[in-house]
Amino acid sequence: MEKIIWKDSFSVGNVDMDLQHQKLIEMINELIEQKDLSNNGEVVSDVLTKMTDYIKYHFTSEEAYMKKIDFPEIVSHELEHLDFIEKTTNFCLGTLTFDKSVYTELLEFLKEWLLNHILKSDMKYKEFAETL
Ligand SMILES: [Fe+2]
Repeated sequence: MEKIIWKDSFSVGNVDMDLQHQKLIEMINELIEQKDLSNNGEVVSDVLTKMTDYIKYHFTSEEAYMKKIDFPEIVSHELEHLDFIEKTTNFCLGTLTFDKSVYTELLEFLKEWLLNHILKSDMKYKEFAETL
């Protein structure tokens, strides 16, 4: 699977949010780099735990930011975040069953979700970004 490469077009107009998104991409890339996820259970669960913690931190921080800039679609955006946490938790439980297909599905899901979420949903608050 190809790693995600950050592009300027991913920027949502706020340095902190961009840095947090870059950190998330870095974590997903760490998982993509593992040649055989199913044989690296410990590494995977370690990265997943780190990532889940970081995602929760990021969502809280992004939601506070959206409130601050009066982003009108904050409620539906928060629902997307909740939905993501629920799906990721289910995937994490799935990896405990040692079903190999879960790893590939998990990676595809994380990569797709993150890119789609940043480029479509997060991008919507760009026009409300604070100008310095
Ligand atoms: Fe978001």
